[in-house]
This record gives sequence, C-alpha cells and structure tokens, in this order.
Amino acid sequence: MITISLNGAEHTIKSSPETPLLYVLRDELGLNGAKYGCGLGQCGACTVIVDGKAILSCVTPVMLVASRSVITLEGLGAAENPSAIQRAFIAEQAAQCGYCISGMIMRAKALLDRSPSPSDADIRAELEPHLCRCGTHMRILRAIRRAALDPKTPNSARATQ
Ligand code: FES
Ligand code: FES
Repeated sequence: MITISLNGAEHTIKSSPETPLLYVLRDELGLNGAKYGCGLGQCGACTVIVDGKAILSCVTPVMLVASRSVITLEGLGAAENPSAIQRAFIAEQAAQCGYCISGMIMRAKALLDRSPSPSDADIRAELEPHLCRCGTHMRILRAIRRAALDPKTPNSARATQ
C-alpha cells in the first residue's frame, strides 16, 4: 500500500497505485478542493503542490507521490480561517464560477513560496497553463500581487521575521 503525506497528515491509500492523484483526493479522501476540469493535463483545475512544486493531479499516478508532501487547497486554510493567498483572492473577488480558482491559488502559492516578489511577467508566465473560461484574469493577477504584498504571506516581500 502507498502512504502519502497530505496537508501534514499521513494517509494510507487503498486505491490502486496507477490511480490519478486527483481521483484519490476526491473519491477516496473526500477532498474536493482540486477540481476535475479536462482530465488531460490541459486546464490546471486539478493543480496541487507536491514537495513545493505545482503539479497536475489528474495526470499524476498516486504512486508517484508516495512518501512525498502533498498540499491541497484544504491545506492552505478554511472558510473561517483563510490563508493570505485565499484572502487576497476574496478581496479582489477574483472568481466568477470559481472552477479554475483552486488550481490558480495552488500554483500562485507555489510561486510566492519560491519567489516572494514576482513581476507581472513572472505571474503571467507561471499561470499560463491555467484556463479560465469566465475571464477573471485581471482580478486573478491583482489577487496574486496583493498576496505578494501581504506581510502575512510566508516569504512575502514585506514579511517581517
Ligand atoms: S483537470 Fe487536470 S489539467 Fe485539467
Ligand atoms: S472563474 Fe470560472 S473558470 Fe475561472
């Protein structure tokens, strides 16, 4: 059996090793933050963070994340206690249907963790694999800029020690 570290807790997985991580998260573990968009690695809705990197969980067999650190949207914060990046998306109202937003937030989080003060070009290049059919692109950019300036964002350009 495969064990994964998910949002800081160890989980033993019953699904077969070839099962896409997205299906394990949603169907076996009941975590619905990561979304099924295309199922083909082409939209970004299913993005989660593995060992600090944004990955597409719909095309990642769960066996590839065995013993690695997996973070999903649920690992960032909850409605009653949102993280800085989630607060920034809420403040900028950076969603219409919201279907793409979980994936956008996870990739933005990975970007800000390694690059606390990204340029607009950096943000645009990073988010390029993500599709948003509703067209909130400018609000999404503003939300990521806002999070980068929030002292409560880990590694923020303005974070105090
Ligand atoms: S659902 Fe994974 S990239 Fe679209
Ligand atoms: S807000 Fe609807 S797909 Fe992005």
